[in-house]
Amino acid sequence: MSDELKLTILRKLDSEGLIENTTATFKDVSVETILGALKSLESQEKIAYDTLTTEVWTIEAEGKDQLENGSYEAQVFEAVPPGNEGISIEALKAKFGAKANLGQGKGFKNKWIKKSGSNIVRLVDSITDQTKADLETVHQTGTHPSKDVIKDLKRRSLIKQNKILSYAVRKGANFSTELKRQATDLTLEMLQSGAWKSAEFKKFNFDSLGINPSGGHLHPLMKVREEFREVFFETGFEEMPTNNFVDSSFWNFDALFVPQQHPARDLQDTFFLKEPAVANSLPDFWPVVRDVHEKGGYGSIGYRYPWSEAESKKLVLRTHTTSISTYMLHKLAQQPYRPAKYFSIDRVYRNEAVDAKHLAEFHQVEGVIADKNMSLGSLIDFLDIFFKKMGISDLRFKPTYNPYTEPSMEIFSWHEGLREWVEIGNSGMFRPEMLRPLGLAEDVRVAGFGLSLERPTMIKYGIDNIRALVGHKVDLGMIEANPACRLDKKMGKEVFQGRV
Ligand code: PHE
Repeated sequence: MSDELKLTILRKLDSEGLIENTTATFKDVSVETILGALKSLESQEKIAYDTLTTEVWTIEAEGKDQLENGSYEAQVFEAVPPGNEGISIEALKAKFGAKANLGQGKGFKNKWIKKSGSNIVRLVDSITDQTKADLETVHQTGTHPSKDVIKDLKRRSLIKQNKILSYAVRKGANFSTELKRQATDLTLEMLQSGAWKSAEFKKFNFDSLGINPSGGHLHPLMKVREEFREVFFETGFEEMPTNNFVDSSFWNFDALFVPQQHPARDLQDTFFLKEPAVANSLPDFWPVVRDVHEKGGYGSIGYRYPWSEAESKKLVLRTHTTSISTYMLHKLAQQPYRPAKYFSIDRVYRNEAVDAKHLAEFHQVEGVIADKNMSLGSLIDFLDIFFKKMGISDLRFKPTYNPYTEPSMEIFSWHEGLREWVEIGNSGMFRPEMLRPLGLAEDVRVAGFGLSLERPTMIKYGIDNIRALVGHKVDLGMIEANPACRLDKKMGKEVFQGRV
């Protein structure tokens, strides 16, 4: 925006006190340019202005001809020679075309001319062309003092009314003829130099629409996670803290009654930490865990192998969030009995070959329910309700093996597209060999289940390669553009698969 116009406005206000009508004052400047300058000056409170709508009459095409060449009646009059002979109507038509009729009609009315046989003759020697004079007045002033004239010219389609925006400008609270560059920010330099004291700050424009934020879009995994969280909260679960990605083998395996020779504890399956490689100490009750592995108890004969404390201290990237469930169950057991429902949704790590369906890290959705009346039947009941809330209604259960649950069940759901039963999760009743050393009483039953977060997300968003969802190849445009997730209820048959 040119400062020149702004300065001109300010100087004019300074010398004249106000500008009554900007269009009249700045004839060659467009209304848009003037408004821009006024808004800028107003934001600095240098001026204030009111908008005026002026109604202006302008000359139409037919009017222009008559303004330049005289009214049609005058043109016709001039074409009629003086004397009794006059001019033939045909000759006038040939000369003026369509204008001839209009001009004659008005000439008859004005008593300037008359018909004589097939000719037109003059009635007067000279005329005053009032129409032309009126058009001249409208052209010069945008209006005419006589309302009747305006009405007449308008009826004859010689003039048209236009609305013109204009502004009346007066001095503002901060009026001056100087234009200072306004500061948009309070800077460190301004504070240090003291320049802030005399600086003029640009005002906030709270009416501005702003620009679309380029960030702040949720990843699809986070949206589906939210869906799961809602279902958990709805069904009375508490969220477990999952911010420890590194855990001891004790919490990840031993406390879950996973024997130290189990293939899951192999380098091939689990990421072991190099630095630091081992935990400083084990929780106090570790001998109870050792004993159940070595000798059994609570009705079990145990695994009957020499349990190693060193093996148990090895640090791993947690391979499942069941390590956290175990820790939370131990904490629960230290308090007076109460039933509990815990859930978590967070990352776990497995040393797997990465392909289109598998990553070395993924999210696990996990829930545990501890209650004296908990049974396999109530777990099945609960899973039915839980998955129905996620839009999945046909469930089947298949016996399976987990070191820490007995019985254990794989959860299957009917996939309409594939027309087959697909695995969606794993579940079971935790074994006494796990629960009793944690300190839980004999009559407290604990059920648990787990599934992956990636699988339902991929199905929901139609992603068939997991690397398009997680990792450095993820297209940020996809994240920005993807819809807010609702695991729509008709997805029921569109099943997702858990990993065990
Ligand atoms: N830990 C199991 C897994 O890794 C899930 C599970 C949790 C199974 C609780 C049974 C009970 O998939």
